[in-house]
Amino acid sequence: MDNSEKIKEILRANDIVDVIGSYISLIPKGKNHFCICPFHDDHSPSMSVSKDKQIFRCFVCGESGNALTFLMKYLNIPFLEACEILGEKCGIKILKKENKKNSKYEKYYDIYNKVTLFYKNNLNTKEGIKAKKYLEERNIDKKLIDEFDIGLSLNGGLGQVLLKNYDKKTLVDLDIINENLKDSFTNRIIFPIRDTNNNIVAFSGRIYNEEDINKYRNTKETIIFKKGQILYNFYNAKDNIRKAKEVIICEGFMDVIRLHSIGIKNAVAIMGSNMTKEQIKIIKDLKVSVTLNLDQDHAGKTGSIMVGEQFLTEENINLKVIVFNKAKDSDELITKYGKEDFITAYRNKIDFIDFKLDFLKNNKNLSNAEDLSKYINEAIESINKLDDDILKEIKITELSNKYNINKSTLLSKIVKNKKIKIKYENKPIEKEKLNKFKISEIRIIYLMMNYPEVINIFQKRLGYLINKDMNYLASEIVGYKLKYKEFKLEDFITHIINDENLNTVFKKVMSYNHMENYTDDELEDYINTIKLYSVKKEIEKYTNKLKNSLDINEKKELLKKIENMKKEVLEW
Ligand code: CTP
Ligand code: MN
Repeated sequence: MDNSEKIKEILRANDIVDVIGSYISLIPKGKNHFCICPFHDDHSPSMSVSKDKQIFRCFVCGESGNALTFLMKYLNIPFLEACEILGEKCGIKILKKENKKNSKYEKYYDIYNKVTLFYKNNLNTKEGIKAKKYLEERNIDKKLIDEFDIGLSLNGGLGQVLLKNYDKKTLVDLDIINENLKDSFTNRIIFPIRDTNNNIVAFSGRIYNEEDINKYRNTKETIIFKKGQILYNFYNAKDNIRKAKEVIICEGFMDVIRLHSIGIKNAVAIMGSNMTKEQIKIIKDLKVSVTLNLDQDHAGKTGSIMVGEQFLTEENINLKVIVFNKAKDSDELITKYGKEDFITAYRNKIDFIDFKLDFLKNNKNLSNAEDLSKYINEAIESINKLDDDILKEIKITELSNKYNINKSTLLSKIVKNKKIKIKYENKPIEKEKLNKFKISEIRIIYLMMNYPEVINIFQKRLGYLINKDMNYLASEIVGYKLKYKEFKLEDFITHIINDENLNTVFKKVMSYNHMENYTDDELEDYINTIKLYSVKKEIEKYTNKLKNSLDINEKKELLKKIENMKKEVLEW
C-alpha cells in the first residue's frame, strides 16, 4: 500500500467526530455536530462536523477540511505529523520521506553521531569505570544510559580519530576539538543534545571526578546549535506531550531523565532557568497545558515567574507550577525520597497566579503595614492580568479574608474585562453580495463535491465555469474523479492540501450557507444561468466590436453573430 492509499485508510479508520471531539466539545444537532470554531473569534457555534461526509466546515470563516487538516490547523503541525497521530490510533504507519538526508547540515549530524558513539563506547572501557560508578550512584541505570545516549569524554583522543576523516576547521567550528587539536570535552559525562528534529547538535558535559568551576560545559553555539532554540528531550517527549495534553518544563536534563525513569515522559528541559522567545513559541505551538517544574531555589522560582509571565502574554493558557520543599529539584526529590513524593507534589501543582501571589511575599514583612500595602498593590496588579473576571473576584475575596481588608476597596482597583486577545488564524469571510451567477458557480462546485453524479452532469452539460478560480477548482474535481474513478470529498481535501489557490476557492465555496439537498430543476437552473451569462458576455464583446468597426462587411458579420447568439439564448 502506498502512502496515498494509507492516508485514505487512516481517514476511514478515524471518525472525525471523535477526532475533533477529543479537543473541543461538540453539540449533536440533527445529523451533524456543532462547536465554537477554533479558527476565528467565534461566539456561537459556527462550525459543523459531519459524520456522514467526515468533514468539518465553518460557515463564518470558511475553514473546512477533513480530520487530518483539522489536526494540522488546530495543533499547528505538518501534514505527516497529523498522519502519524491518527495513524497511530489505527495501527497504520506512514513512510516518511527521508527529508533529513537532504539537509545541508547532514555532514555535521553525521559527525555528531560518530562522536556520540565514541563517547558512549568510552563508558564501557576500563577508563570508564569511575564514571559508571558515578552514574550508578546517581541512580542512572543501564537502560537510562542507553535511552539518553549518555557517554563519557576521556583525557583526549577523539581529535586524532576524527582528523583522519574530517578537516580541522570543521571539527573546530563544531566545537569538537579546539585550535590546538585538543578535545573540547575532557573527563566529563556526556549528554547529547538533540534539536527539534532529533538530530544530535551539541553536547553537555558534566564533571564527575574532579573539581572544576563549571559543573557543566556545553558545546558553544555553532551553525547547527543555538542554545535558545533547544529544548532538551523535546522530540522524544512530543507524542507523550500531545497524549497527556500537557508539557512539564524542567530546568536541567537530570530532572527530565529522572522523570522519564519513573514513567513521566512528557517533560523537557530548558537547560537553565529562563526561556527564550523561540523556546516559548515551540511550546505554545503544541497548544497544551504547561506545568513549570523548575528548581525550588530562589533562582528557579524567579525563573518560574519570568517564564510564566512570558507564557501568559497574548493568550491565555492553562499554567501550573509544581512546588515542594524537601529538595532542590525533582531529580533530588525522587532519588532521595522516592517517586511518590514527586507524584504528590505534581498532583498538588498550583495555579500560576497563586504561585505568583506567594512569590510576591518574598522580602516583605506582612505584619508591617507599609509592606502589606505594597504586597496588596503588587498582588492586585497580577490579578488584573487574569482574563477571567470571576477568577479575579475569587482571588480578591481570598486576599480580603486573609489580610482583613475591606473587599470593596480591593474590588475598586480591579480592571474588568481586560480580555487577553487570542490571535486567530482567520477572520470571518466578508460576505460579498452574490449575484445569481456567482451563486450558481459556488453551488455547482459544492454539489459536485458532495454528489459525484453532479460531476458527470457538469461534464456533459457545461464543462467549464467562467470565474477563473472556480473553473480551476471544478476542473481539478473532474480530473480527480477521472483518475481515481470515484470522488470522496474527504480524500479530495487531502489531494489539494498543498495548493494555496485551490484552498482559497475551496474555502469560499464552503463558507456559503449551503442547502444540503438539490433538485434536478435547481441544478438545471444553475447550468442555464452560467450558460446565459457566458453568452451575454460574448454578446457584449461583439456589440462593442460592432460599435468600433468601420468596415461595413465586418459589421454585417458581427450583427449576424449577435442575432444567432440571441436566438440560442431564446431556445432554452
Ligand atoms: N547548566 C549549564 N551550565 C552550568 C550549570 C547549569 O549549562 N554551569 C544548565 C544545564 O543544562 C543543567 C541546567 O542548567 O541541566 C540546570 O542546572 P543545575 O540545576 O545546576 O543542574 P542539575 O540539572 O541539577 O544537575 P546536577 O543534578 O547534575 O547537579
Ligand atoms: Mn540536580
